[in-house]
Amino acid sequence: MANIFIIGATGGVGSKLGRLLVRSGHSVIGLHRKPDQAAGLADDGVSPAQGDIIEMTPEQLAQAAQGADVMVFTAGAAGSGLDRTTAIDGDGPAKAIEAARLLGITRLYLVSAFPEAGRQRERSDGFEHYMAEKKRADVAVATSELEWVILRPGTLTDAEGQDTVTMGPAILYGSIARETVARALCALINQPSVCREIIELTDGPTPIDEAVAALRQG
Ligand SMILES: NC(=O)c1ccc[n+]([C@@H]2O[C@H](COP(=O)([O-])OP(=O)(O)OC[C@H]3O[C@@H](n4cnc5c(N)ncnc54)[C@H](OP(=O)(O)O)[C@@H]3O)[C@@H](O)[C@H]2O)c1
Repeated sequence: MANIFIIGATGGVGSKLGRLLVRSGHSVIGLHRKPDQAAGLADDGVSPAQGDIIEMTPEQLAQAAQGADVMVFTAGAAGSGLDRTTAIDGDGPAKAIEAARLLGITRLYLVSAFPEAGRQRERSDGFEHYMAEKKRADVAVATSELEWVILRPGTLTDAEGQDTVTMGPAILYGSIARETVARALCALINQPSVCREIIELTDGPTPIDEAVAALRQG
């Protein structure tokens, strides 16, 4: 069983992932910004570590992740401004890579976004910037020496979670529930032989375990 550090542990995907990983038998440390989020994480069996990814140095992030052997980055600025998007979605994963190196952590999972996201909506500077920062983070992770997985879910919804998906290196765009993303991410973490892969993910008909096994065979 692994000791997993989640950056974005209180978020839609991150909170569900924490619960699933704990249920799978892993130890989980969750980064949270506000003091009053600690109790909720602890109730889920997640060890809370307080910190703001914007302010934290890689050394401070490594301190928060002490004892972890896997890192997950699923934080996001969620449209709270261009500078915050740069600092969280863009710079955050690079800090996670640095912190992983400091701790000797080799596995990193990044929740990113489909390049097709937002194609059917009116263009806005904020969204274009978000997509550029997501791509900048993908590049930092994909060019690192770590055993990384970049997961690109479609449009996230709060619908009920499913145990089936469509998952692969190139799939058509669609949406997916945050709970389903968490289930897929948990299955990927439980299958470390899947690494150095960019994986697109939407709702779909394939059982998650089968979809992950197909990636391994590939
Ligand atoms: N929305 C979409 O359709 C979509 C599609 C594809 C991919 N994504 C990406 O998928 C990921 C997960 O999405 P989600 O909906 O689960 O996101 P979310 O609910 O907005 O959660 C974001 C998480 O990041 C944390 N966070 C924000 N600023 C932080 C900071 N300065 N320091 C530390 N933590 C900070 C939040 O903490 P607080 O609880 O304190 O706010 C929260 O835990 C994000 O990276 C998002 O960009 C989104």
